[in-house]
Amino acid sequence: MKTRNKCFSFVIYGLPLALLLSLLLPYSLNVYASGAPTLKFGSFKDNNQFSDPDEQLAGEAVGDFQLGNALFRKLWSIGSSSVKSADGVGPLFNSRSCQRCHLKDGRGNPPADEHSFSPSLVFQLKATSEGNETTDINYGKQIQPFAANGLHGEANIFVSYATEEFHYADGQSITLNRPSYRIEDLAYGELGDNSILAPRVAPAMIGLGLLEAIPADTIKANADPDDNNGDGISGRANFGYSLEHQKTMLGRFGWKASAPTVIDQSAAAFSADMGLSTSLIGLNYGDCTEQQKDCRRVARIHSLDETEPEVSRDMLELVAHYSKNLSVPAPRNQTNLEFINGQKIFDQLNCQQCHTPQHTTDNSNTTEPHLRNRVVNAYTDLLLHDMGPDLADSQRQGFALANEWRTTPLWGIGLTQTVNPLARFLHDGRAASIEEAIVWHGGEAEDSKVAFTQLSQHQRESLLFFLKSL
Ligand code: HEC
Ligand code: HEC
Repeated sequence: MKTRNKCFSFVIYGLPLALLLSLLLPYSLNVYASGAPTLKFGSFKDNNQFSDPDEQLAGEAVGDFQLGNALFRKLWSIGSSSVKSADGVGPLFNSRSCQRCHLKDGRGNPPADEHSFSPSLVFQLKATSEGNETTDINYGKQIQPFAANGLHGEANIFVSYATEEFHYADGQSITLNRPSYRIEDLAYGELGDNSILAPRVAPAMIGLGLLEAIPADTIKANADPDDNNGDGISGRANFGYSLEHQKTMLGRFGWKASAPTVIDQSAAAFSADMGLSTSLIGLNYGDCTEQQKDCRRVARIHSLDETEPEVSRDMLELVAHYSKNLSVPAPRNQTNLEFINGQKIFDQLNCQQCHTPQHTTDNSNTTEPHLRNRVVNAYTDLLLHDMGPDLADSQRQGFALANEWRTTPLWGIGLTQTVNPLARFLHDGRAASIEEAIVWHGGEAEDSKVAFTQLSQHQRESLLFFLKSL
Protein backbone atom coordinates (compact mmCIF):
# COMPACT_ATOMS: atom_id res chain seq x y z
CA MET A 1 0.00 0.00 0.00
CA LYS A 2 1.31 3.42 -0.90
CA THR A 3 0.00 5.08 2.14
CA ARG A 4 2.30 7.08 4.28
CA ASN A 5 3.94 9.39 1.75
CA LYS A 6 0.60 10.77 0.58
CA CYS A 7 -1.25 10.80 3.82
CA PHE A 8 0.01 14.17 5.07
CA SER A 9 -2.86 15.34 7.18
CA PHE A 10 -3.18 11.99 8.83
CA VAL A 11 0.53 11.84 9.55
CA ILE A 12 0.44 15.31 11.11
CA TYR A 13 -2.60 14.74 13.28
CA GLY A 14 -3.16 11.03 13.23
CA LEU A 15 0.33 9.74 13.88
CA PRO A 16 0.73 11.51 17.23
CA LEU A 17 -2.73 10.22 18.05
CA ALA A 18 -1.69 6.69 17.14
CA LEU A 19 1.47 7.05 19.25
CA LEU A 20 -0.50 8.44 22.14
CA LEU A 21 -2.97 5.59 21.83
CA SER A 22 -0.19 3.05 21.78
CA LEU A 23 1.17 4.55 25.00
CA LEU A 24 -2.24 4.65 26.65
CA LEU A 25 -3.56 1.38 25.32
CA PRO A 26 -0.64 -1.05 25.21
CA TYR A 27 -2.95 -3.93 26.00
CA SER A 28 -5.25 -3.35 23.10
CA LEU A 29 -2.67 -2.61 20.43
CA ASN A 30 -0.46 -5.58 21.23
CA VAL A 31 1.52 -5.26 18.02
CA TYR A 32 5.21 -5.81 17.63
CA ALA A 33 6.98 -4.66 14.51
CA SER A 34 9.24 -7.69 14.53
CA GLY A 35 6.26 -9.83 13.63
CA ALA A 36 6.89 -11.84 16.80
CA PRO A 37 3.87 -13.65 18.22
CA THR A 38 1.46 -11.35 19.95
CA LEU A 39 1.80 -11.30 23.72
CA LYS A 40 -1.34 -12.15 25.58
CA PHE A 41 -1.97 -10.35 28.84
CA GLY A 42 -4.35 -11.85 31.32
CA SER A 43 -6.54 -14.84 30.76
CA PHE A 44 -9.06 -15.68 28.08
CA LYS A 45 -11.45 -13.48 29.97
CA ASP A 46 -9.85 -10.31 28.64
CA ASN A 47 -11.89 -8.43 26.10
CA ASN A 48 -9.15 -7.85 23.52
CA GLN A 49 -9.58 -11.26 21.93
CA PHE A 50 -10.68 -9.80 18.58
CA SER A 51 -8.12 -7.00 18.41
CA ASP A 52 -4.91 -8.81 17.42
CA PRO A 53 -3.44 -8.44 13.94
CA ASP A 54 -3.39 -11.40 11.56
CA GLU A 55 -0.51 -13.64 12.61
CA GLN A 56 1.13 -13.47 9.19
CA LEU A 57 1.05 -9.71 8.90
CA ALA A 58 4.64 -8.46 8.62
CA GLY A 59 6.86 -5.49 7.85
CA GLU A 60 5.28 -2.21 6.78
CA ALA A 61 1.82 -3.78 6.85
CA VAL A 62 2.05 -3.94 10.66
CA GLY A 63 2.59 -0.18 10.86
CA ASP A 64 -0.34 0.38 8.51
CA PHE A 65 -2.45 -1.86 10.74
CA GLN A 66 -1.66 0.42 13.70
CA LEU A 67 -2.51 3.53 11.70
CA GLY A 68 -5.75 1.89 10.58
CA ASN A 69 -6.49 0.97 14.19
CA ALA A 70 -6.14 4.60 15.25
CA LEU A 71 -8.55 5.67 12.49
CA PHE A 72 -11.00 2.91 13.43
CA ARG A 73 -11.02 4.19 17.00
CA LYS A 74 -10.83 7.88 16.13
CA LEU A 75 -13.66 9.87 17.68
CA TRP A 76 -14.45 12.34 14.89
CA SER A 77 -15.55 15.79 15.92
CA ILE A 78 -19.00 16.99 14.96
CA GLY A 79 -19.49 19.30 11.99
CA SER A 80 -16.75 20.97 10.06
CA SER A 81 -13.82 22.68 11.65
CA SER A 82 -10.97 24.78 10.38
CA VAL A 83 -8.59 21.90 11.03
CA LYS A 84 -8.77 19.72 7.96
CA SER A 85 -8.09 16.35 9.58
CA ALA A 86 -10.72 17.08 12.21
CA ASP A 87 -13.44 17.54 9.60
CA GLY A 88 -16.48 16.25 11.19
CA VAL A 89 -19.29 13.76 11.17
CA GLY A 90 -22.75 14.77 10.06
CA PRO A 91 -24.96 16.60 9.31
CA LEU A 92 -26.74 13.38 10.31
CA PHE A 93 -24.96 10.49 11.96
CA ASN A 94 -25.31 7.35 14.07
CA SER A 95 -21.91 7.35 15.72
CA ARG A 96 -18.68 9.35 15.80
CA SER A 97 -16.38 6.36 15.42
CA CYS A 98 -16.29 2.91 13.85
CA GLN A 99 -15.43 1.26 17.11
CA ARG A 100 -18.44 2.65 19.02
CA CYS A 101 -20.49 0.21 16.95
CA HIS A 102 -17.94 -2.56 16.42
CA LEU A 103 -17.10 -2.64 20.12
CA LYS A 104 -13.56 -3.84 20.81
CA ASP A 105 -13.66 -5.06 17.18
CA GLY A 106 -16.48 -7.36 18.22
CA ARG A 107 -20.15 -6.96 17.56
CA GLY A 108 -22.53 -4.31 18.81
CA ASN A 109 -25.60 -4.87 20.93
CA PRO A 110 -29.22 -3.83 21.22
CA PRO A 111 -30.09 -1.44 24.08
CA ALA A 112 -29.82 -2.92 27.57
CA ASP A 113 -33.49 -2.25 28.31
CA GLU A 114 -36.53 -0.72 26.69
CA HIS A 115 -35.78 2.80 27.89
CA SER A 116 -32.25 3.08 26.60
CA PHE A 117 -30.59 3.44 23.25
CA SER A 118 -27.65 1.73 21.61
CA PRO A 119 -25.86 3.21 18.59
CA SER A 120 -24.63 -0.19 17.44
CA LEU A 121 -28.14 -1.40 16.56
CA VAL A 122 -28.78 0.45 13.31
CA PHE A 123 -32.24 0.83 11.79
CA GLN A 124 -31.99 0.70 8.04
CA LEU A 125 -35.02 1.76 6.04
CA LYS A 126 -36.18 -0.44 3.21
CA ALA A 127 -38.87 0.51 0.75
CA THR A 128 -39.93 -0.76 -2.63
CA SER A 129 -41.30 1.14 -5.56
CA GLU A 130 -42.64 -0.83 -8.52
CA GLY A 131 -40.79 -3.88 -7.32
CA ASN A 132 -37.44 -2.11 -7.02
CA GLU A 133 -35.47 -1.49 -3.86
CA THR A 134 -35.54 2.18 -2.77
CA THR A 135 -34.96 4.17 0.39
CA ASP A 136 -37.35 6.23 2.52
CA ILE A 137 -38.40 9.44 0.80
CA ASN A 138 -37.94 11.58 3.94
CA TYR A 139 -35.29 9.72 5.91
CA GLY A 140 -33.10 7.98 3.33
CA LYS A 141 -31.17 4.76 3.94
CA GLN A 142 -31.38 4.60 7.71
CA ILE A 143 -32.41 6.45 10.83
CA GLN A 144 -29.63 8.67 12.18
CA PRO A 145 -30.53 9.61 15.76
CA PHE A 146 -27.86 12.34 15.94
CA ALA A 147 -27.27 15.59 14.07
CA ALA A 148 -24.77 18.42 14.02
CA ASN A 149 -25.15 22.16 14.30
CA GLY A 150 -28.63 22.73 15.64
CA LEU A 151 -30.30 20.23 13.30
CA HIS A 152 -32.55 17.57 14.77
CA GLY A 153 -31.59 13.92 14.96
CA GLU A 154 -34.09 11.94 12.90
CA ALA A 155 -35.82 9.85 15.55
CA ASN A 156 -35.40 7.66 18.60
CA ILE A 157 -36.21 3.98 18.46
CA PHE A 158 -36.90 1.80 21.47
CA VAL A 159 -36.80 -1.97 21.57
CA SER A 160 -38.90 -4.25 23.75
CA TYR A 161 -39.16 -8.00 23.89
CA ALA A 162 -42.17 -10.27 24.31
CA THR A 163 -41.10 -13.57 25.84
CA GLU A 164 -42.25 -16.96 24.58
CA GLU A 165 -41.58 -20.42 26.00
CA PHE A 166 -40.28 -22.99 23.58
CA HIS A 167 -40.44 -26.67 24.60
CA TYR A 168 -37.87 -29.26 23.60
CA ALA A 169 -38.92 -32.84 22.89
CA ASP A 170 -37.53 -33.90 26.29
CA GLY A 171 -39.86 -31.51 28.12
CA GLN A 172 -37.18 -28.92 28.96
CA SER A 173 -37.90 -25.40 27.77
CA ILE A 174 -36.15 -22.21 26.75
CA THR A 175 -37.39 -18.61 26.73
CA LEU A 176 -37.24 -16.76 23.42
CA ASN A 177 -37.37 -12.97 23.06
CA ARG A 178 -39.39 -11.59 20.16
CA PRO A 179 -38.43 -7.97 19.51
CA SER A 180 -40.72 -5.09 18.67
CA TYR A 181 -39.77 -1.51 17.93
CA ARG A 182 -41.31 1.83 18.84
CA ILE A 183 -40.22 4.86 16.89
CA GLU A 184 -40.59 8.27 18.55
CA ASP A 185 -39.68 11.90 17.89
CA LEU A 186 -39.71 11.63 14.09
CA ALA A 187 -38.24 15.04 13.25
CA TYR A 188 -38.77 15.15 9.48
CA GLY A 189 -42.36 14.01 8.95
CA GLU A 190 -43.79 10.54 8.75
CA LEU A 191 -41.98 7.51 7.42
CA GLY A 192 -43.04 6.65 3.86
CA ASP A 193 -46.05 4.27 3.73
CA ASN A 194 -43.91 1.69 2.08
CA SER A 195 -40.96 1.84 4.46
CA ILE A 196 -39.94 -0.93 6.77
CA LEU A 197 -37.56 -0.63 9.71
CA ALA A 198 -34.76 -3.15 9.29
CA PRO A 199 -32.70 -3.55 12.47
CA ARG A 200 -29.06 -4.60 11.96
CA VAL A 201 -26.58 -5.02 14.75
CA ALA A 202 -22.92 -4.26 13.95
CA PRO A 203 -21.07 -7.58 13.32
CA ALA A 204 -17.64 -8.59 14.62
CA MET A 205 -14.65 -7.50 12.53
CA ILE A 206 -12.51 -10.66 12.66
CA GLY A 207 -11.22 -12.54 9.60
CA LEU A 208 -12.82 -10.22 7.04
CA GLY A 209 -9.82 -10.18 4.67
CA LEU A 210 -9.84 -13.97 4.62
CA LEU A 211 -13.57 -14.00 3.81
CA GLU A 212 -12.89 -11.52 1.01
CA ALA A 213 -10.17 -13.81 -0.37
CA ILE A 214 -12.32 -16.96 -0.70
CA PRO A 215 -12.61 -17.43 -4.47
CA ALA A 216 -15.97 -16.18 -5.78
CA ASP A 217 -16.24 -19.29 -7.96
CA THR A 218 -16.05 -21.57 -4.91
CA ILE A 219 -18.86 -19.67 -3.22
CA LYS A 220 -21.01 -19.60 -6.33
CA ALA A 221 -20.39 -23.32 -6.94
CA ASN A 222 -21.99 -24.12 -3.57
CA ALA A 223 -25.16 -22.24 -4.46
CA ASP A 224 -28.10 -24.47 -5.30
CA PRO A 225 -30.90 -21.94 -5.89
CA ASP A 226 -33.39 -24.48 -7.21
CA ASP A 227 -32.39 -27.13 -4.68
CA ASN A 228 -31.45 -29.57 -7.44
CA ASN A 229 -29.92 -31.96 -4.93
CA GLY A 230 -33.24 -32.06 -3.06
CA ASP A 231 -31.80 -31.62 0.45
CA GLY A 232 -34.21 -28.79 1.30
CA ILE A 233 -31.33 -26.32 1.42
CA SER A 234 -30.91 -24.03 -1.55
CA GLY A 235 -28.49 -21.17 -0.96
CA ARG A 236 -28.27 -18.22 -3.31
CA ALA A 237 -25.45 -15.84 -4.02
CA ASN A 238 -26.11 -12.13 -3.53
CA PHE A 239 -24.57 -9.53 -5.82
CA GLY A 240 -23.93 -5.86 -5.37
CA TYR A 241 -22.28 -3.00 -7.21
CA SER A 242 -18.70 -2.54 -6.02
CA LEU A 243 -17.58 1.09 -5.99
CA GLU A 244 -14.05 -0.18 -5.37
CA HIS A 245 -13.98 -2.30 -8.56
CA GLN A 246 -16.63 -0.36 -10.51
CA LYS A 247 -18.65 -3.43 -11.40
CA THR A 248 -21.33 -5.77 -10.08
CA MET A 249 -19.74 -8.53 -8.03
CA LEU A 250 -20.56 -11.34 -5.63
CA GLY A 251 -21.76 -9.84 -2.31
CA ARG A 252 -20.05 -11.06 0.88
CA PHE A 253 -20.46 -8.55 3.71
CA GLY A 254 -23.36 -7.41 5.84
CA TRP A 255 -26.14 -9.62 7.22
CA LYS A 256 -27.52 -10.02 3.70
CA ALA A 257 -24.17 -10.24 1.92
CA SER A 258 -24.97 -7.07 0.02
CA ALA A 259 -21.49 -5.48 0.01
CA PRO A 260 -18.82 -7.03 -2.26
CA THR A 261 -15.70 -5.77 -0.47
CA VAL A 262 -14.47 -4.46 2.87
CA ILE A 263 -13.61 -1.14 1.22
CA ASP A 264 -17.15 -0.87 -0.18
CA GLN A 265 -18.65 -1.56 3.24
CA SER A 266 -16.26 0.87 4.95
CA ALA A 267 -17.06 3.69 2.51
CA ALA A 268 -20.78 3.00 3.05
CA ALA A 269 -20.21 3.17 6.82
CA PHE A 270 -18.35 6.47 6.60
CA SER A 271 -21.23 7.88 4.55
CA ALA A 272 -24.41 6.51 6.13
CA ASP A 273 -23.27 5.87 9.72
CA MET A 274 -21.02 8.89 10.15
CA GLY A 275 -21.84 11.41 7.41
CA LEU A 276 -18.25 11.52 6.17
CA SER A 277 -17.42 11.71 2.47
CA THR A 278 -14.80 9.43 0.95
CA SER A 279 -13.13 9.10 -2.42
CA LEU A 280 -15.77 6.44 -3.24
CA ILE A 281 -18.89 8.16 -1.88
CA GLY A 282 -18.27 11.88 -2.28
CA LEU A 283 -21.63 13.09 -0.93
CA ASN A 284 -20.87 15.75 1.66
CA TYR A 285 -24.43 15.48 2.97
CA GLY A 286 -24.26 11.77 3.77
CA ASP A 287 -27.78 10.36 4.13
CA CYS A 288 -29.71 13.71 4.15
CA THR A 289 -32.54 13.41 1.61
CA GLU A 290 -33.78 16.10 -0.76
CA GLN A 291 -36.68 16.65 1.66
CA GLN A 292 -34.23 17.44 4.47
CA LYS A 293 -33.41 20.86 3.06
CA ASP A 294 -31.75 22.31 6.19
CA CYS A 295 -29.51 19.34 6.39
CA ARG A 296 -28.37 19.73 2.79
CA ARG A 297 -27.87 23.47 3.36
CA VAL A 298 -25.65 22.91 6.40
CA ALA A 299 -23.62 20.36 4.46
CA ARG A 300 -23.13 22.86 1.61
CA ILE A 301 -21.95 25.65 3.89
CA HIS A 302 -19.46 23.41 5.60
CA SER A 303 -17.98 22.11 2.42
CA LEU A 304 -17.66 25.41 0.52
CA ASP A 305 -13.89 25.44 0.72
CA GLU A 306 -13.45 21.69 0.35
CA THR A 307 -12.16 20.05 -2.76
CA GLU A 308 -11.06 16.81 -1.12
CA PRO A 309 -13.30 14.24 0.56
CA GLU A 310 -13.26 14.32 4.36
CA VAL A 311 -11.77 10.84 4.38
CA SER A 312 -8.97 10.56 1.81
CA ARG A 313 -8.37 7.48 -0.31
CA ASP A 314 -5.34 6.68 1.87
CA MET A 315 -7.32 6.88 5.08
CA LEU A 316 -10.07 4.69 3.63
CA GLU A 317 -7.45 2.15 2.59
CA LEU A 318 -5.83 2.18 6.02
CA VAL A 319 -9.15 1.58 7.77
CA ALA A 320 -9.96 -1.20 5.31
CA HIS A 321 -6.49 -2.73 5.74
CA TYR A 322 -7.05 -2.79 9.50
CA SER A 323 -10.53 -4.25 9.02
CA LYS A 324 -9.19 -7.00 6.78
CA ASN A 325 -6.46 -8.06 9.16
CA LEU A 326 -8.04 -8.67 12.55
CA SER A 327 -7.03 -12.15 13.54
CA VAL A 328 -9.50 -14.91 14.33
CA PRO A 329 -8.78 -16.51 17.73
CA ALA A 330 -7.94 -20.21 17.58
CA PRO A 331 -10.69 -22.60 18.72
CA ARG A 332 -10.27 -23.87 22.28
CA ASN A 333 -10.81 -27.34 23.86
CA GLN A 334 -10.29 -29.15 20.57
CA THR A 335 -9.05 -32.35 22.18
CA ASN A 336 -11.84 -32.38 24.77
CA LEU A 337 -14.29 -35.25 24.21
CA GLU A 338 -17.26 -32.94 24.57
CA PHE A 339 -15.89 -30.75 21.74
CA ILE A 340 -15.45 -33.80 19.54
CA ASN A 341 -18.98 -35.03 20.30
CA GLY A 342 -20.43 -31.57 19.74
CA GLN A 343 -18.71 -31.33 16.38
CA LYS A 344 -20.19 -34.70 15.36
CA ILE A 345 -23.66 -33.53 16.34
CA PHE A 346 -23.11 -30.31 14.34
CA ASP A 347 -22.52 -32.49 11.26
CA GLN A 348 -25.36 -34.91 12.04
CA LEU A 349 -27.85 -32.04 12.27
CA ASN A 350 -26.70 -30.73 8.87
CA CYS A 351 -25.58 -27.43 10.34
CA GLN A 352 -22.49 -27.72 8.17
CA GLN A 353 -24.65 -27.62 5.01
CA CYS A 354 -24.78 -23.85 5.44
CA HIS A 355 -22.12 -23.23 8.10
CA THR A 356 -19.43 -24.73 5.79
CA PRO A 357 -16.53 -25.45 8.11
CA GLN A 358 -13.62 -24.83 5.75
CA HIS A 359 -12.50 -22.93 2.69
CA THR A 360 -9.10 -22.15 1.16
CA THR A 361 -8.41 -18.62 0.01
CA ASP A 362 -7.41 -17.69 -3.52
CA ASN A 363 -3.75 -17.90 -4.40
CA SER A 364 -3.65 -14.60 -6.23
CA ASN A 365 -6.74 -12.49 -6.04
CA THR A 366 -6.05 -10.19 -3.12
CA THR A 367 -4.17 -6.99 -2.43
CA GLU A 368 -2.97 -8.56 0.83
CA PRO A 369 -0.41 -11.23 -0.21
CA HIS A 370 -0.24 -12.88 3.24
CA LEU A 371 -3.95 -13.76 2.95
CA ARG A 372 -3.35 -15.98 -0.09
CA ASN A 373 -3.65 -19.76 0.10
CA ARG A 374 -4.87 -19.78 3.67
CA VAL A 375 -7.17 -22.35 5.25
CA VAL A 376 -10.22 -20.58 6.59
CA ASN A 377 -12.35 -22.26 9.27
CA ALA A 378 -15.16 -19.74 9.07
CA TYR A 379 -18.26 -22.01 9.23
CA THR A 380 -20.12 -20.14 6.50
CA ASP A 381 -20.93 -20.61 2.82
CA LEU A 382 -21.43 -16.81 2.46
CA LEU A 383 -24.71 -17.60 0.71
CA LEU A 384 -28.25 -16.43 1.38
CA HIS A 385 -30.81 -18.78 2.89
CA ASP A 386 -34.50 -18.52 3.55
CA MET A 387 -34.65 -18.55 7.37
CA GLY A 388 -38.44 -18.44 7.66
CA PRO A 389 -40.99 -15.75 8.50
CA ASP A 390 -39.92 -15.17 12.13
CA LEU A 391 -36.57 -13.72 11.10
CA ALA A 392 -37.79 -11.90 7.97
CA ASP A 393 -37.88 -8.12 7.98
CA SER A 394 -36.96 -5.90 5.10
CA GLN A 395 -38.09 -6.07 1.57
CA ARG A 396 -35.50 -6.66 -1.14
CA GLN A 397 -31.83 -5.85 -0.43
CA GLY A 398 -29.85 -6.33 -3.61
CA PHE A 399 -31.05 -9.74 -4.71
CA ALA A 400 -31.84 -10.83 -1.15
CA LEU A 401 -35.48 -11.36 -0.25
CA ALA A 402 -37.07 -10.43 3.08
CA ASN A 403 -36.58 -13.87 4.60
CA GLU A 404 -33.05 -14.47 3.28
CA TRP A 405 -29.92 -14.00 5.36
CA ARG A 406 -26.25 -14.71 4.83
CA THR A 407 -25.03 -17.70 6.83
CA THR A 408 -23.24 -16.06 9.74
CA PRO A 409 -19.60 -17.17 10.18
CA LEU A 410 -19.34 -19.02 13.50
CA TRP A 411 -15.61 -18.55 14.08
CA GLY A 412 -14.95 -16.68 17.29
CA ILE A 413 -18.62 -16.99 18.29
CA GLY A 414 -17.72 -18.42 21.71
CA LEU A 415 -15.84 -15.24 22.61
CA THR A 416 -18.63 -12.88 21.54
CA GLN A 417 -19.76 -12.02 25.05
CA THR A 418 -16.22 -12.02 26.44
CA VAL A 419 -15.40 -9.19 24.04
CA ASN A 420 -18.71 -7.35 24.51
CA PRO A 421 -20.73 -8.63 27.50
CA LEU A 422 -23.89 -6.94 26.16
CA ALA A 423 -23.63 -8.61 22.75
CA ARG A 424 -26.36 -10.98 21.63
CA PHE A 425 -26.92 -13.09 18.53
CA LEU A 426 -28.66 -12.94 15.12
CA HIS A 427 -28.97 -9.93 12.82
CA ASP A 428 -31.10 -7.92 15.24
CA GLY A 429 -29.52 -9.18 18.44
CA ARG A 430 -32.74 -10.81 19.64
CA ALA A 431 -31.07 -14.01 20.86
CA ALA A 432 -29.46 -13.67 24.27
CA SER A 433 -27.60 -16.96 23.82
CA ILE A 434 -26.26 -19.22 21.07
CA GLU A 435 -28.94 -21.73 22.05
CA GLU A 436 -31.74 -19.20 21.45
CA ALA A 437 -30.19 -18.33 18.06
CA ILE A 438 -30.45 -21.97 16.99
CA VAL A 439 -34.09 -22.24 18.06
CA TRP A 440 -34.96 -19.19 15.91
CA HIS A 441 -33.75 -21.04 12.78
CA GLY A 442 -36.57 -21.80 10.32
CA GLY A 443 -37.14 -21.98 6.56
CA GLU A 444 -34.35 -23.97 4.92
CA ALA A 445 -32.90 -24.60 8.39
CA GLU A 446 -36.17 -25.90 9.83
CA ASP A 447 -35.12 -29.57 9.66
CA SER A 448 -31.82 -28.83 11.44
CA LYS A 449 -33.64 -26.82 14.08
CA VAL A 450 -36.22 -29.57 14.67
CA ALA A 451 -33.43 -32.13 14.94
CA PHE A 452 -31.75 -29.88 17.54
CA THR A 453 -34.94 -29.69 19.59
CA GLN A 454 -35.14 -33.49 19.61
CA LEU A 455 -31.68 -34.00 21.12
CA SER A 456 -31.23 -35.03 24.72
CA GLN A 457 -30.11 -32.31 27.10
CA HIS A 458 -26.65 -33.85 27.21
CA GLN A 459 -26.37 -33.77 23.40
CA ARG A 460 -27.57 -30.16 23.27
CA GLU A 461 -24.94 -29.26 25.83
CA SER A 462 -22.19 -30.96 23.79
CA LEU A 463 -23.19 -29.06 20.66
CA LEU A 464 -23.20 -25.79 22.60
CA PHE A 465 -19.83 -26.65 24.19
CA PHE A 466 -18.40 -27.10 20.67
CA LEU A 467 -19.86 -23.80 19.44
CA LYS A 468 -18.68 -21.92 22.54
CA SER A 469 -15.17 -23.26 21.92
CA LEU A 470 -15.03 -21.74 18.42
C1 HEC B 1 -23.61 3.12 13.66
C2 HEC B 1 -22.95 1.88 13.81
C3 HEC B 1 -21.81 1.56 12.88
C4 HEC B 1 -20.68 2.31 12.62
C5 HEC B 1 -20.34 3.68 13.16
C6 HEC B 1 -19.87 1.52 11.74
N1 HEC B 1 -20.47 0.33 11.45
FE1 HEC B 1 -19.71 -1.15 10.31
N2 HEC B 1 -21.45 -2.16 10.46
C7 HEC B 1 -22.56 -1.73 11.17
C8 HEC B 1 -23.69 -2.58 10.85
C9 HEC B 1 -25.09 -2.45 11.41
C10 HEC B 1 -23.23 -3.52 9.91
C11 HEC B 1 -24.08 -4.59 9.19
C12 HEC B 1 -24.61 -3.91 7.94
C13 HEC B 1 -25.61 -4.72 7.15
O1 HEC B 1 -25.90 -5.85 7.48
O2 HEC B 1 -26.12 -4.20 6.15
C14 HEC B 1 -21.81 -3.24 9.71
C15 HEC B 1 -20.97 -3.99 8.89
C16 HEC B 1 -19.63 -3.71 8.68
C17 HEC B 1 -18.73 -4.53 7.92
C18 HEC B 1 -19.06 -5.90 7.31
C19 HEC B 1 -18.77 -6.97 8.34
C20 HEC B 1 -19.33 -8.34 8.00
O3 HEC B 1 -19.03 -9.29 8.72
O4 HEC B 1 -20.08 -8.49 7.05
C21 HEC B 1 -17.53 -3.86 7.86
C22 HEC B 1 -16.27 -4.30 7.13
C23 HEC B 1 -17.69 -2.63 8.59
N3 HEC B 1 -18.98 -2.58 9.08
C24 HEC B 1 -16.71 -1.67 8.73
C25 HEC B 1 -16.91 -0.45 9.36
C26 HEC B 1 -15.93 0.61 9.37
C27 HEC B 1 -14.57 0.56 8.73
C28 HEC B 1 -16.49 1.65 10.07
C29 HEC B 1 -15.94 3.03 10.30
C30 HEC B 1 -15.64 3.76 9.09
C31 HEC B 1 -17.80 1.19 10.49
N4 HEC B 1 -18.02 -0.07 10.04
C32 HEC B 1 -18.66 1.97 11.24
C33 HEC B 1 -22.61 -0.68 12.05
C34 HEC B 1 -21.67 0.32 12.11
C1 HEC C 1 -30.15 -23.30 5.85
C2 HEC C 1 -28.88 -22.79 6.32
C3 HEC C 1 -28.55 -22.96 7.78
C4 HEC C 1 -28.55 -24.11 8.52
C5 HEC C 1 -28.88 -25.53 8.07
C6 HEC C 1 -28.12 -23.72 9.85
N1 HEC C 1 -27.88 -22.37 9.90
FE1 HEC C 1 -27.26 -21.33 11.50
N2 HEC C 1 -27.52 -19.59 10.50
C7 HEC C 1 -27.91 -19.49 9.19
C8 HEC C 1 -28.20 -18.11 8.86
C9 HEC C 1 -28.62 -17.60 7.51
C10 HEC C 1 -27.98 -17.37 10.04
C11 HEC C 1 -28.20 -15.87 10.23
C12 HEC C 1 -29.65 -15.62 10.66
C13 HEC C 1 -29.94 -14.23 11.21
O1 HEC C 1 -29.05 -13.55 11.72
O2 HEC C 1 -31.12 -13.83 11.16
C14 HEC C 1 -27.54 -18.34 11.04
C15 HEC C 1 -27.17 -18.00 12.33
C16 HEC C 1 -26.69 -18.91 13.26
C17 HEC C 1 -26.21 -18.59 14.58
C18 HEC C 1 -26.10 -17.18 15.17
C19 HEC C 1 -24.82 -16.58 14.71
C20 HEC C 1 -24.54 -15.19 15.24
O3 HEC C 1 -23.36 -14.90 15.35
O4 HEC C 1 -25.47 -14.41 15.48
C21 HEC C 1 -25.82 -19.75 15.18
C22 HEC C 1 -25.23 -19.92 16.56
C23 HEC C 1 -26.10 -20.82 14.26
N3 HEC C 1 -26.62 -20.28 13.09
C24 HEC C 1 -25.87 -22.16 14.52
C25 HEC C 1 -26.41 -23.18 13.75
C26 HEC C 1 -26.47 -24.56 14.16
C27 HEC C 1 -25.89 -25.12 15.44
C28 HEC C 1 -27.09 -25.25 13.16
C29 HEC C 1 -27.49 -26.70 13.14
C30 HEC C 1 -28.41 -27.09 14.18
C31 HEC C 1 -27.40 -24.28 12.12
N4 HEC C 1 -27.00 -23.04 12.51
C32 HEC C 1 -28.00 -24.60 10.91
C33 HEC C 1 -28.03 -20.53 8.29
C34 HEC C 1 -28.14 -21.87 8.66
